[in-house]
Amino acid sequence: NSYEYLLVERKAAVGLITLNRPKQLNALSFGVFGEIATAIDELEADAAIGCIVLTGSEKAFAAGADIKEMQPKGFIDMFNADFTAIRGDRVATCRKPTIAAVSGYALGGGCELAMMCDFIIASDTAKFGQPEITLGTIPGIGGTQRLTRAVGKAKAMDLCLTGRMMDAAEAERAGLVSRIVAVDKLLEEAMAAAEKIAAMSQPAAEMAKRAVNRAFETTLAQGMEVERDLFRSSFALQDRAEGMAAFIEKRPPQIRNR
Ligand code: HXC
Repeated sequence: NSYEYLLVERKAAVGLITLNRPKQLNALSFGVFGEIATAIDELEADAAIGCIVLTGSEKAFAAGADIKEMQPKGFIDMFNADFTAIRGDRVATCRKPTIAAVSGYALGGGCELAMMCDFIIASDTAKFGQPEITLGTIPGIGGTQRLTRAVGKAKAMDLCLTGRMMDAAEAERAGLVSRIVAVDKLLEEAMAAAEKIAAMSQPAAEMAKRAVNRAFETTLAQGMEVERDLFRSSFALQDRAEGMAAFIEKRPPQIRNR
């Protein structure tokens, strides 16, 4: 596939998607959203890829949905765009592990896009917010839902109602980001984490991801049951047998993703 707004690269077993609309601070037009969905389709279908990193520029991960594009639109335009152009949840439905590497602004749809990833690694310059309220609208792809699950009601309400930004330290304290790194080390650290994940058994990684995600959708008892079923299923994997044998034999495992 060729992309207008993204760079899509394969670095060994890691797929790297870089938002590349610098003059607009990576504002997420329908075209950008559509290309992100296509890139996820492409990398998810590539058996050689074990983990996907999504990043922006140093100044902006993404400053939100494209306000200039949205300004003239009405209800039916946005209603239809969900299915045809935006495919807004595609990152969240990716079966392979995904990491957002966030530097600078992650606002509105940008914050929501980062939250669709399995976890967020932030640079010390990152700023997160849901400023939609200042435009007379509200978040539309997870800002009231994923943010609330990540940081709790108090901070989610504060951010969605005031539109203020929070810096990386506040985001880490609140549980939105898993690690903060120096801005010049951001991509290095995110790629290293992704390489580590990509070296694991892919089916085991998918099971782990699915089980964690169930925690947001179920009661504890139901979630425990899903975890137990997936845990038992992992005993059907050759990689599980090999992983345990390698530990006992004090040698590195030969992972075959099966
Ligand atoms: C369109 C945008 C944009 C956006 C920035 N730009 N954000 N264009 N949509 N979301 C453009 C500016 O118009 C400007 O273009 C150029 O990028 C540089 O931006 P500046 O504002 O000059 O930069 P700066 O002064 O450094 O301020 C950075 C900023 C500010 C604080 C991030 O740009 C800003 O507040 N942006 C909007 C943030 C926002 O409200 N996001 C939520 C969008 S709603 P020109 O051509 O003028 O130089 C949303 C809904 C999600 O996301 C629902 C999804 C379906």
